[in-house]
Amino acid sequence: MAVDLLLGLQWGDEGKGKIVDVLTSNYKIIARFQGGPNAGHTLVFNGMKHVLHTIPSGIFHEEAMNLVGNGVVIDPVIFKKELDKLSEQNIDYKSRLLISRKAHLILPTHRLLDAASETSKGKAKIGSTLKGIGPTYMDKTGRNGIRVGDLELQDWKEKYRALAKKHIAMIDFYNVKIDYNLEELETEFFEAIKVLKSIKFIDSEEYIYQSQKKGQSILAEGAQGSLLDIDFGTYPFVTSSNTTAAGACTGLGVAPSSIGDVFGIFKAYTTRVGSGPFPTELFDEDGAKIAKVGHEFGATTGRPRRCGWLDLVALKYACRVNGVTQLMMMKGDVLSGFKTIKVCTAYNYKGETITHLPYNIEEHNVKPIYTEFKGWKEDLTEMENASQIPQELNDYIDFLEKELEIPIKIVSVGPDRKQTIFR
Ligand code: IMP
Repeated sequence: MAVDLLLGLQWGDEGKGKIVDVLTSNYKIIARFQGGPNAGHTLVFNGMKHVLHTIPSGIFHEEAMNLVGNGVVIDPVIFKKELDKLSEQNIDYKSRLLISRKAHLILPTHRLLDAASETSKGKAKIGSTLKGIGPTYMDKTGRNGIRVGDLELQDWKEKYRALAKKHIAMIDFYNVKIDYNLEELETEFFEAIKVLKSIKFIDSEEYIYQSQKKGQSILAEGAQGSLLDIDFGTYPFVTSSNTTAAGACTGLGVAPSSIGDVFGIFKAYTTRVGSGPFPTELFDEDGAKIAKVGHEFGATTGRPRRCGWLDLVALKYACRVNGVTQLMMMKGDVLSGFKTIKVCTAYNYKGETITHLPYNIEEHNVKPIYTEFKGWKEDLTEMENASQIPQELNDYIDFLEKELEIPIKIVSVGPDRKQTIFR
């Protein structure tokens, strides 16, 4: 049985949580494969908003098993808070949540290191969510990390002490002012570890293999977006994991030959939170309108997101790197009421017209070249089926499908599960 993937194609916040939620009934297992609590997957149903950071978005469906894969980094403190929220809502997660023994732990000192590193960068800061993601992946690849499976061993606290001590020395080395009370942080951390240990730890690559063999359907849920990929994103303004399709192979132990459909999620426009190049960013009232109507504030940090027109050059690149087979366009409703809608179809790069993403997309050397579309006035949020899509939006969708050579199967017109148009 093939494993299907669901990935964000822009700079994150595309609305992956909603689509996983919509698709979950088709899958037995939902698995996260990278990232950590830097993600914020928002789901809305029955008039309630739910935000998940580490736990897969299938947790609200009673039938689905949810796996936190080896490629994920887990902050026990945030994880505990997520579990508490689920308990408050009477969600019985215990029997439906599994964690890979090979997933790495975010320690309190990883968060402090993240803050020290960002502060030391001054204006050149990445705009990290400060959840300790970068330092944790550094320890993973540096072969110093602590894994979930270590918690089952006697000597893990010694390992913890040695690593935390090293981190404190590194924080001192940065020579920046970071306020913290390690004792308090550790008390909270060790309490949370107890809760983490109440969840079932498994050898997840074996579980995935056996599930595939039994013919169980699996959806791998990506976090962040392709343009934040550590290799293919706008480095160094990226996250520290592979957010693209290949990340699902290494983050779950799925063989490349058993990847099935790759669902690519994108917004009808573009947003970015944090620093880094963004060629189609708008600084005018159109950008402000998108931000306001689209409620473009980070689900994890609450920071305002930068907004701009759709960048087809970057989107094509993301589709290719991921091998996307089906597209899902989010937040179509936000573009209602614009007289003109623009799509960037090429860049002016150092005086030349190019249609690929260059190595160096510094703000000043890439200027977007736009194709314009007539906007539509209709409110889309009450739409129930594809026959109600206004002609102008159909023209927009047709153009994108032709350019990307991939069908757009879903148009989302609001945050609720019900506001989903299948084509
Ligand atoms: P980090 O992964 O928290 O270190 O953040 C690195 C960059 O990725 C920053 O620009 C963040 O704003 C961005 N980022 C990380 N996670 C997300 C996400 O889930 N959505 C959008 N941007 C993210």
